Amino acid sequence: MKRKHHDLEVWRESMDVVTDCYRLSADFPSAERYGLSSQIRRATVSIPANIAEGAARQTTKEFIQFLYIARASLVELETHIEITRRLSFCGADTDLNERLDRLFAKLNQLHKNQTSFKPQEPVKGTRMNSVTSPVSRLSSLVANDYKVRDIKLADLGRQRIRMAEEEMPGLMSIRAQYAPQQPLKGVRLSGSLHMTKETAVLIETLVALGANVRWASCNIFSTQDDCASAIAVTGIPVFAWKGESLEEYWDCTLEMLTHEGMKGPELIVDDGGDATLLIHKGVDMENGDKWVDAPGANHEEQVIKDLLKRTRSERPGFWKTVAKDWRGVSEETTTGVHRLYQMMEAGKLLVPAINVNDSVTKSKFDNLYGCRESLADGIKRATDLMIAGKVAVVCGYGDVGKGSSHSLRGFGARVIITEIDPINALQAAMEGFEVKTIEEVLGEADIFVTTTGNKDIITYEHMQGMKNNALVCNIGHFDNEIQIDQLNEAEDVVKEEVKPQVHRYKLGNGRHIYVLAEGRLVNLGCAHGHPAFVMSNSFSNQTLAQIDLWKNKDTYEKTVYRLPKKLDEEVARLHLAQIGVKLTTLTQAQADYLGVPVEGPYKPEHYRY
Ligand SMILES: NC(=O)c1ccc[n+]([C@@H]2O[C@H](COP(=O)([O-])OP(=O)(O)OC[C@H]3O[C@@H](n4cnc5c(N)ncnc54)[C@H](O)[C@@H]3O)[C@@H](O)[C@H]2O)c1
Repeated sequence: MKRKHHDLEVWRESMDVVTDCYRLSADFPSAERYGLSSQIRRATVSIPANIAEGAARQTTKEFIQFLYIARASLVELETHIEITRRLSFCGADTDLNERLDRLFAKLNQLHKNQTSFKPQEPVKGTRMNSVTSPVSRLSSLVANDYKVRDIKLADLGRQRIRMAEEEMPGLMSIRAQYAPQQPLKGVRLSGSLHMTKETAVLIETLVALGANVRWASCNIFSTQDDCASAIAVTGIPVFAWKGESLEEYWDCTLEMLTHEGMKGPELIVDDGGDATLLIHKGVDMENGDKWVDAPGANHEEQVIKDLLKRTRSERPGFWKTVAKDWRGVSEETTTGVHRLYQMMEAGKLLVPAINVNDSVTKSKFDNLYGCRESLADGIKRATDLMIAGKVAVVCGYGDVGKGSSHSLRGFGARVIITEIDPINALQAAMEGFEVKTIEEVLGEADIFVTTTGNKDIITYEHMQGMKNNALVCNIGHFDNEIQIDQLNEAEDVVKEEVKPQVHRYKLGNGRHIYVLAEGRLVNLGCAHGHPAFVMSNSFSNQTLAQIDLWKNKDTYEKTVYRLPKKLDEEVARLHLAQIGVKLTTLTQAQADYLGVPVEGPYKPEHYRY
């Protein structure tokens, strides 16, 4: 199909924006200072180059593809101008804004005019643009190095990221404070962490600090597709979409670990330890370990083994090269931290690690107050279920369990706890919860939530004892808290999809149960995870951990560290003003009486909060 020749005007307009941007770079020395000028230039060059390239093509379809790339670069340009402006606390350039808006409108109009063309659905798991001609080489670099569901969602993602930034005062002020020093300049950094809007703010912070970032999600259901696209269009390679298969998930993890020139990352942000695990298993394999050649204990383990075997034939020696340059990992969650300590105790840990989870401003906030808001949110978005009056069982009363039980109680559920630890069980009882064993409550409860980070908490046998239409879900990191495989494999069980991430099972006994997010974390699979304000605390810790790992890379040992209490207090301090908290300052006499400095830290290491 021939396209109409009405793109010249847009091309001219884009050249105007380019001129503006060059002027901006000249007037805007701060762009240079924050390391953003090259990104502004890259986006700037790519817009007219792609429009010109599109104009030279024969078919509407091809032209539209180039328009997508041009538009993506325009979003990228706008983002970098905005970041530079914020970092240098400059006012808006109204003239430039108007020109940018005009160009957006023209590109949109041009799109709309191609009525006969239906945009191609991006194919997940494949590269979406195959632009190879010299004129667009630059833009194809920007546009090709990602895998997302639908790049056209980038605008929506950008709007949501902006809203998240407003609720992330700690992370944004750390960005503003450290960006001028470029503490991660040129560092190859890979992240495996839920690709949400909050994570997008973390990613752009790490980029503003100078890092070369590649990203994947740490869960097959947790990606917010619009936010992944918003990151992809800025030229940051991201490999994530909601509803990946396990094969796709591990392929994305490998892509995220593969930097330019087949190099590995120098730093990793991990959540749950999958990136760390893959490198350790890869190195073991290259050292002659036979684990990969034995049959996998379950489907996912087999997927990991198959991937490693593939790298053995396609990239010999890759994992040892990765390990050689790798200088550290910061781990986000309880389950990943368990894995790290296990590796450390076995003397197998390849790099220094920072346990971000056990910063007070992480686990005592994200795990607790985050889940207090996001558990009920996940259940409600998935099912619209009335929670008030229902009997809910929360397995585990650690930080996540506490948040989860209060989440359900807040809606009026009658909550029962199961625990193995007498201290946590006593805490639950003192909060007014009943504490029972799961076997005692099977026929009584309407909602079951696992929060333990342990396995086989709800067994297949337990499910058969549940009452009709009971709801089962998990908010712990991995899906092995519930025996989903056994449920799926049972011959007399019929599985029916109500909608993605909501399944109704008919059991052999004729009763039904509902399972959310296929047993994976319900708050990220069925809703959008924790709110940005609490994630700002977690990700402030992540950013400080990454800066410290790089700064002290020559002195850190291959063990697991925590961030100093002083930084923990600093992270909390950064969040006070936004919610109107007025802090009291110690007098010198009071500080002397307590034996602490006026400016902190205020509590000994053993204090439990
Ligand atoms: N979904 C999220 O947003 C989110 C956020 C943070 C952490 N997590 C994950 O949630 C899980 C729990 O994290 P946490 O910080 O609360 O850990 P935690 O160690 O504080 O709490 C887990 C609790 O489960 C109890 N437990 C263990 N086995 C049990 C069993 N068989 N029956 C009953 N109770 C049992 C433990 O005694 C402990 O009190 C981890 O997998 C973590 O990675 C999820």
